[in-house]
Amino acid sequence: MLTHYFRMQTFAQILSQKLNEALSKVVSSDDLPEGFQADIDQSQNPQFGDYQSNVAMVLAKRVKRNPRELAAEIIEAFEAGDICDAPEIAGPGFINFRLSSAALENRLADLLADAKKLGVGAAEPEKTIVIDFSAPNVAKPMHVGHIRSTIIGDSLARIAGFLGHKVIADNHIGDWGTQFGMILWGWKNILNHDAMEEQPIEELVRVYREVNSKAKADLHFRETCKGELVKLQGGDEENLAIWEKCIELSRQGLQKIYDRLDVHFDHWLGESFYNDQLGPLVEKLVEEGIAEESDGAICVFSDNKAEKKDDPFYKNENDEWVPLPFLIRKSDGGFLYGTTDLATVDYRISEFGADSIWYVVGAPQQLHFNQLFATTERRGIETDLQFIPFGSILGKDRRMLRTRDGESVQLVDVLNESVDRARAIIEEKNPELSDEEKADIAEAIGIGAVKYAELSQFRMTDYVFDWDTMLALKGNTAPYLLNAYVRTRAIFRKMGKDFEEGGEIKLTEQAEKNLVLKLAQFGEVVPSVLSDFRPNALAAYLYEVATSYHKFWEACPVLQSEGAVRDTRLMLCELTGRVLKCGLGLLGIRTIEKM
Ligand code: ARG
Repeated sequence: MLTHYFRMQTFAQILSQKLNEALSKVVSSDDLPEGFQADIDQSQNPQFGDYQSNVAMVLAKRVKRNPRELAAEIIEAFEAGDICDAPEIAGPGFINFRLSSAALENRLADLLADAKKLGVGAAEPEKTIVIDFSAPNVAKPMHVGHIRSTIIGDSLARIAGFLGHKVIADNHIGDWGTQFGMILWGWKNILNHDAMEEQPIEELVRVYREVNSKAKADLHFRETCKGELVKLQGGDEENLAIWEKCIELSRQGLQKIYDRLDVHFDHWLGESFYNDQLGPLVEKLVEEGIAEESDGAICVFSDNKAEKKDDPFYKNENDEWVPLPFLIRKSDGGFLYGTTDLATVDYRISEFGADSIWYVVGAPQQLHFNQLFATTERRGIETDLQFIPFGSILGKDRRMLRTRDGESVQLVDVLNESVDRARAIIEEKNPELSDEEKADIAEAIGIGAVKYAELSQFRMTDYVFDWDTMLALKGNTAPYLLNAYVRTRAIFRKMGKDFEEGGEIKLTEQAEKNLVLKLAQFGEVVPSVLSDFRPNALAAYLYEVATSYHKFWEACPVLQSEGAVRDTRLMLCELTGRVLKCGLGLLGIRTIEKM
C-alpha cells in the first residue's frame, strides 16, 4: 500500500508529467534516449505562456520528423485537465503552456494552507551534509574571503535544512598555524591585556601585525618566534596555556559577530582538533601506498590514471608537465593544512555520517581541494565532496577591496558602517519612529544589505562593493525587498486586523495572476539553488516577487475593493509577505514590520 501524504507538486512538475505522458503516446520509447524526460522551463516572456518546452525540437531530428508537426501531435495527445488551456506551438516548434485561472486560484489556496513550506517539497533522498564555512584564522584578520564564506555558507545551510536535509555546520577555524610563534612572543612582550579582554580579535590582530612587521625585517627575531612555536608544538605548558587563552578569547569575539549576523555553527572543530590524528594518518597513507617519501618529506604523487591536464598532481611549466605533489608531512616532521583536511574528512564521515561535505572557500584554494578530493578518492572514500568557491570583493576602483591604509577590510567595520548608513536613511524616511525602533530597523537593513549584496551576485563574480548601490531603496537591493515586505504588512495594520483564513478566491486582473504564478514558483526555485550552489537564483526570484507585487499594488486596489476580489487581494498580500519573509530568511536576512 502506498502511504498518501500531502505533497504539492509544482506547476513545472505537473506539466512535465503530463507532457511526458503525451510524449509516450506519440513517440515509441524505443526511439527515445534511455531515461529520457521532457523538460519544462518557466517562460521568460509572458507572450509565450507561463511555461514552455523545446522537447519537439530536441526529438525531431532523432525521429526524423518536422518539429512543428511533432509538437502538434504532442499537443493533441496532451491531457491538460483543468491545469491549463490547450498548449500552443510557437516558432520552430516550442510548446507553450498557459495556466488556467482555476489552476492559479487553487494554487493560491494550497499555498496559503502550506504556511511553513509554501509549496517547497522535501528533497529526496534526505542527506546528512556537513557544511564547512567561515573558518577564519585565529589572530589573523577576518578578511573579505571569510565574509563571503560566512554569508554564502550560512545561506546554503539554511536552504539545505529547509529542504529537509540534516545539516551540520562546522567552523573549521585556523587555530594551529605558524602565526602562533609570533603571537606567543607578542603575548609575552607587547600584549595589552585590557584590550585583549575587551576586543580580543582586534588586539590579537594588532599584536600579530606588529610582530609580523618586526619579523619581516629581522632574521634573528624570526628565529626567536619560531622557537616559541616549536615549544608550543612540543607541548610546553606555558605556551599551551597562552594558546588556549587566545583561542578562547578569539572564539568569544567571533561569536559576537556571528550572533549579530545570526549565523550558527553546530561545531567548531578547528585545525588543532585533529593534531593527534595526523601522525597515524600519514603512516597509514604511506602503508597503503598512496603517499611516499620524497626528499625527506611525505607527499601524494599522481597515480597517472587521469590525463595530465585533468590531473591535480601535475602542473604545466613552459609546456612541460612537472609533478605537483600534495605535501602531507614536511621534512622537519611538521604537518600541513592538507594533512588536517584529510583527517577532517575521515572524522566527518565516521562521527557525523556525512553523505556530503561542502567547502565554502575562496577560489584561490581550488588546487588544494582538487588534490584533497583526488587523494580521498584514491583512499576509496565515496562521500560526495563539493568545493564551493567564490571570487573577490572589489573596491570602487575595481581592485581588491582594501581600507584606506591598504589593510584588508574587517567584517565588523563593514557591518558598523552599513548599519550607520542605514540609520541615516531611516532618520530621513521615517523620523517619527522611536529610537529603539530606528536602531532595530537600522541593524536589520544594514546587515541585510551586506548579506544581500553578496548573495544577489553569482558567487564566482568579483563584485564591486558600493554602499550607495547596496543601500538604495530602488533596484535589486535588500532595502527594496524589505520595503516590499513592509508594504504587505502595512495593509493589515491599516485594516486594523491580522490576516484571517477563509474567504472566496477570484482572480480577475492579469497582475493578480502574474503574482500568483510568481509565488507558486517558490517551490521550483528553492531546490534549484542547490544544484549549483547559487543563492543568487533565490535572490533574483525574490526581487521578481517584489516587482510583481509592486505591479499588482499599482493595478489592484485592495482595501477599496469588495467581496471575493478583496478577499483574494488580501490573500495575495499575505502570501507575498510570507514568501518574502521565508525567502529572505533563507538568505539569512531578517525582515522588519516597519521601515
Ligand atoms: N582557514 C582557512 C582560510 O582562512 C579556511 C579553511 C577552509 N576549510 C577547510 N576545511 N580547509 O583560508
